[in-house]
Amino acid sequence: MKITKAVVTAGGLGTRMLPATKTVPKEMLPLADKPVIQYVIEEAVASGISDILVVTNRAKSAVDDYFDYTPELEEKLASAGKIEELEAVRRTADIANVFYVRQKETLGLGHAVWRARRFVGNEPFAVLLGDDVTMADVPVTRQLIDAAEQYGASAVGTQRVPADAISKYSSLKVEPLGGRVFRVEDMNEKPRPEEMFSEYAILGRYVLSHEIFDILEGTSPGYGGEIQLTDGLRTLCRRSPMVAVDFEGRRYDTGSLRGFLEATVDFSLKHADIGEWMREFIKKRAGEL
Ligand code: G1P
Repeated sequence: MKITKAVVTAGGLGTRMLPATKTVPKEMLPLADKPVIQYVIEEAVASGISDILVVTNRAKSAVDDYFDYTPELEEKLASAGKIEELEAVRRTADIANVFYVRQKETLGLGHAVWRARRFVGNEPFAVLLGDDVTMADVPVTRQLIDAAEQYGASAVGTQRVPADAISKYSSLKVEPLGGRVFRVEDMNEKPRPEEMFSEYAILGRYVLSHEIFDILEGTSPGYGGEIQLTDGLRTLCRRSPMVAVDFEGRRYDTGSLRGFLEATVDFSLKHADIGEWMREFIKKRAGEL
């Protein structure tokens, strides 16, 4: 099972980061010198994905522009001898085969993924949420693909979250299979405390069988009146094998101000040119607090 296709969802409204996201898509906000969505697409590419469908909406044209060529800018950079900048600009346009489809109505994550059915066809595929950024030695999507291959199963990325925060996520009912991998038996979206299965929440990464599309087609709106991917996965895990991977690495919810600022600090510290400067700056500031 070679997985070459990924779906990146970028159809959300960005209501947790206003006013910054009033006119700039949340996926285009920069972490150090690259927009959020570039980290997500780089993770997919580093995991062996070659074809990526980004699910956007009418307010996200800046996303498709970003992965296109910019002839005027490139000519200017070339004639000024700014080769490094030119390469950086070119690299984003040549990063992968990037396709787009619009989610014409904001009907939920399940509906966004369902929009990818013609792109995916009958293959297993990865899903990466466009505002969930990860930092890991082995790319998180790769960790999921490895487990999906090993167990011949769909896979969801998980980590434990504090019990009082689980209602912001989804909760998994799991049985250990070995190492960091669990068998998924059930799940629910945004559970109330008494409905929680465990502290294991799905966090932004999935490897799915194409069977999910038929399931989503018949999935009724759930939490928030939206078609929830989790509700579709609940049916999928009863029909065919599914594992959860307690992935190694950090995950940032860049759609929230705190997650965005944590990611800004961590990716700046890792940045080849400014990492050292950032470390010194943080130390200096911390000494003043
Ligand atoms: C989505 C998913 C949820 C998951 C969360 C974090 O929720 O529906 O199951 O736990 O992302 O990846 P959202 O953050 O869009 O409300």
